[in-house]
Amino acid sequence: MAKLLERIRFIVGALALALIVAMATPVLAQQGAPINPTASAVKEQQLLNEVSRIQGRGTIPDVRSYVLEHPAGREWRQWHEVTLRWIGAITVLGTLALIVIVYLWRGMIKIEGGRSGRTIVRFTAFERFVHWMTASCFIILALSGLNITFGKPLLLPLLGPEAFTTWSELAKYAHNYLSFPFTIGVVLVLLIWVGDNIPNSADVEWFKRGGGIFSDDHPPAGHFNGGQKAIYWIVVLGGGTSAVTGYLLMFPFYGTGISGMQLAEVVHATVAMLFIAVMLAHIYIGTIGMEGAAEAMGQGTVDVNWARQHHSQWLKDEMARSPKGARAQPAE
Ligand code: HEM
Repeated sequence: MAKLLERIRFIVGALALALIVAMATPVLAQQGAPINPTASAVKEQQLLNEVSRIQGRGTIPDVRSYVLEHPAGREWRQWHEVTLRWIGAITVLGTLALIVIVYLWRGMIKIEGGRSGRTIVRFTAFERFVHWMTASCFIILALSGLNITFGKPLLLPLLGPEAFTTWSELAKYAHNYLSFPFTIGVVLVLLIWVGDNIPNSADVEWFKRGGGIFSDDHPPAGHFNGGQKAIYWIVVLGGGTSAVTGYLLMFPFYGTGISGMQLAEVVHATVAMLFIAVMLAHIYIGTIGMEGAAEAMGQGTVDVNWARQHHSQWLKDEMARSPKGARAQPAE
């Protein structure tokens, strides 16, 4: 009996010792053994190759947040970090370079024979308000958008992380909130000027004659010439596309899923770069490119000689509408 008890005590003791050793081994292994950071179990690339996405488990109700990486995300990153930057740089810098070349070659297009001293109303106060509201929103949207594309490589090294974060946060708020007055502006632009922007045969002629830009030719034009009509439709369609794709991104998952949002971003960013390039050309021709153009959107009037040179048909129509030149007024 005593021997049996002694054997049982021995077996229980041996089992307890084995249990302690078994529990202590992993702890010792963790403390003593060198860590292998490239062990196959933690290789992200291998995980991605095998399961094509990295997905975990979470506690919040939105299960979409459990996917951390998937192949389309990596393709999109390549587009955003490399391809888009090339497209943006070539389009925007290329347009700026072209503008400099045109200015050096052509200079400012002058009013032939100088100013007449008589002006005619070209845009009402409401039209100018709509133009400047849309334009100022556009400029801030463009700068804050370009910060999303180029800020990290260009500004972060210059400003440092704290200032860059503050600026980017501000820019992002501006981009989100100014999208609303911009969209309203685009809708108003569509409504107030659509009647004057329907293409006609005079526009074909205007384009055939290069808009008179390459010579001292003055193809006749109505309220808007062929070039301005093209700008108008670019603003309406480009603005509309930026708005639709932008809101899909601003309100994620309401309109579309991940792939839809990636497509929306690709369209949004590509349209934005082309839009910026076209607006640079528009700003050029409205300021230093052509004498007497800026005042049309400034005080709302233009010199009669300017109107005769660039919009002869419009001047004729206006004069016919009010033969005594009711809309024509002496310059101050
Ligand atoms: C209603 C109008 C618009 C809305 C709702 C909108 C909204 C957005 C949103 C939500 C983003 C993504 C921001 C992020 O990744 O955090 C974005 C990016 C961007 N937006 Fe807009 N946007 C609008 C108009 C414009 C306009 C007019 C331009 C320029 C002409 C523009 C240029 C850009 C650019 C360049 C980006 C960065 C693209 C990138 O690098 O991924 N946006 N926009």
